[in-house]
Amino acid sequence: MHSRYEEAYTQSLQDPEAFWANAAEDVNWYKKWDRVLDSSDQPLYRWFLGGVVNTCYNALDLHVENGRADQLALIYDSPVTDTIKTFTYRELLDVVARFAGVLRSQGIQKGDRVIVYMPMVPEAVIAMLACARIGAVHSVVFGGFAANELATRIDDAKPKIIVSASCGIEVERIIEYKPLLDKAIEQAETKPEYTIILQRPQAQASMIEGRDLDWDSLMSSTKPVDCVPVAATDPLYILYTSGTTGIPKGVVRDNGGHLVALKWSMKNIYGVDPGEVYWAASDVGWIVGHSYIVYAPLFHGCTTLLYEGKPVGTPDPGAFWRVISEHNVSVLFTAPTAFRAIKREDPEGALIERYEMKKFRSLFLAGERCDPDTLQWAKDKLNITVIDHWWQTESGWPMGANCVGLEEFPIKPGSCTKAVPGYDIRIVNDEGKEVEPKKIGNIVIKLPLPPGCFPTLWNNDSGYRESYLDSYPGYYKTADAGYKDEDDYLWVMSRTDDIINVAGHRLSTGGIEEVLASHADVAECAVVGIADEIKGEIPVGFLVLNAGVNRPGETIIQEVIQMVRDSIGPVASFKVATVIKRLPKTRSGKILRGTIKKMAEGIPYKIPATIDDPNILDEIKSDLANLGYPH
Ligand code: COA
Ligand code: AMP
Repeated sequence: MHSRYEEAYTQSLQDPEAFWANAAEDVNWYKKWDRVLDSSDQPLYRWFLGGVVNTCYNALDLHVENGRADQLALIYDSPVTDTIKTFTYRELLDVVARFAGVLRSQGIQKGDRVIVYMPMVPEAVIAMLACARIGAVHSVVFGGFAANELATRIDDAKPKIIVSASCGIEVERIIEYKPLLDKAIEQAETKPEYTIILQRPQAQASMIEGRDLDWDSLMSSTKPVDCVPVAATDPLYILYTSGTTGIPKGVVRDNGGHLVALKWSMKNIYGVDPGEVYWAASDVGWIVGHSYIVYAPLFHGCTTLLYEGKPVGTPDPGAFWRVISEHNVSVLFTAPTAFRAIKREDPEGALIERYEMKKFRSLFLAGERCDPDTLQWAKDKLNITVIDHWWQTESGWPMGANCVGLEEFPIKPGSCTKAVPGYDIRIVNDEGKEVEPKKIGNIVIKLPLPPGCFPTLWNNDSGYRESYLDSYPGYYKTADAGYKDEDDYLWVMSRTDDIINVAGHRLSTGGIEEVLASHADVAECAVVGIADEIKGEIPVGFLVLNAGVNRPGETIIQEVIQMVRDSIGPVASFKVATVIKRLPKTRSGKILRGTIKKMAEGIPYKIPATIDDPNILDEIKSDLANLGYPH
């Protein structure tokens, strides 16, 4: 039988240049590439070398010129401020071109960095597209991060300007951004020349004369500017993500490959047509927000939706159904955690009945493995196609999926289905040898990665090689473990490093440990990601105190919880810790985090042969019992 997926997949691996050159025909180029794939500096690769494009042109101007000027480009739906605001392609182009004018008049040139630290407001999208328009490199920082995380990113990206807002709104709580921004700038070694602040009615930010500029007044006196042609290989943005230490990695995205891959993905993976409403319920500060709130839907001529709210509590667990029904959403993309939150509050899905969702046909889930129960619940209650798909900040678009636009495969709950065209996914043991089907191993991808994937880390080629390419020469290390079954379905099971996924947010337990260890009374510590019914995993801290410390353990626990909140941010969801006598270790001193995790989750575990002192596990068992583990 003819398989559209097989045909695309095979061609993408056998002749990647022909495959992606063909996809690139769908994009507007000022000048086409000289070489589809530049392999002259292996293991680093560049796509569409010599090509000249503009990302913003492809997202906006092209559609205005081609008959979509009056179609909605962006719907802003904000239950937390009780606002719905829409922008046609023409209107969005107008404000983006004018904000590009603002940036230009403040001295921003091609290649300059601009940090965007904003809540889920249209101005965040406008700022990103305005940067793309003039070839500036944006770096969006998620609002749930603390000042310290922002400062680290300022020092790495060295922005000339930071665009921010007076506040974000978390359900009913006003989160003032400006004090965090001021603190971050104070802490950072590199100072931006200016900040541009959007004053929201919910909070008024105090401004520093000469440094802080007001969004509205700048916009009222600016002129629109045109797109600046950039090289396909020029950076479009930097997005920082958790690595294995407290220092985040600056994932770089280029212009040309990103444009080609994301545009291709909309039809072939998501099965969406131009003109349809596509909603990624994520945050612009995460990769899902970059790729599937902002860029891909606009490249494809869809209407994209920016939702400033939560799946529950704004005002109820019917919020998603209200948005889908009110704005005629065809495809929704979110994290399984959102569905678990809805399911917990409305297990029967009673609120679904209240809304007519005529156009709604598919739900895509990512950010963590979708547990089969949640997948089944969504499928049963909504009666639509539900697809778990797998990707990373580094890839920028899905690596494993059921590509419904090409060919829909039967779902196996717990599997993300198959490798996406362009990704030659292999499962290898620690020596890099491929393992047989159904055997769990390291998931790696044969180089070159397809277009759209990160070509490097910001100013750090050597870190890129070291973190991702050196372990398995010729392959990209995903740091995920899993297996392929006899039908070539991919099962992504866990990380091989210290990253955990908390409510779809990627965190480094090592980064949290660094904060705990900096407490004066803490001698050593371990942070373990333990299964959580709603968030997938939550970080739990185990603290060993210095000899002679006689302050109450509970006080120290509250102090370290506050330290994590202040240093990493509320998004770390670090709320549980305990003081223990000693940590379980191997004879060589390695902390047995995996064993603690299994004990807490009630999963059978073997006492490691290399354990220093097996009796310690009884102590840990009773410490865990005091915390209520296993549930
Ligand atoms: N600015 C400031 N604070 C923020 C924030 C932001 N942008 N986003 C989250 N926070 C805060 C929350 O208010 C919360 O604070 P608290 O500890 O004082 O209550 C904390 O960070 C943890 O947030 P979160 O993990 O999101 O938990 P939650 O209880 O507020 O909501 C869910 C839980 C499941 C409803 C929520 O995580 C969700 O909607 N997830 C959807 C999936 C998603 O967006 N994934 C991203 C990748 S696809
Ligand atoms: P992020 O970079 O925040 O997108 O996180 C990427 C990580 O999330 C991956 O390396 C996986 O560990 C995990 N992940 C994302 N999607 C899935 C999925 N569908 N199944 C299993 N794990 C996933």
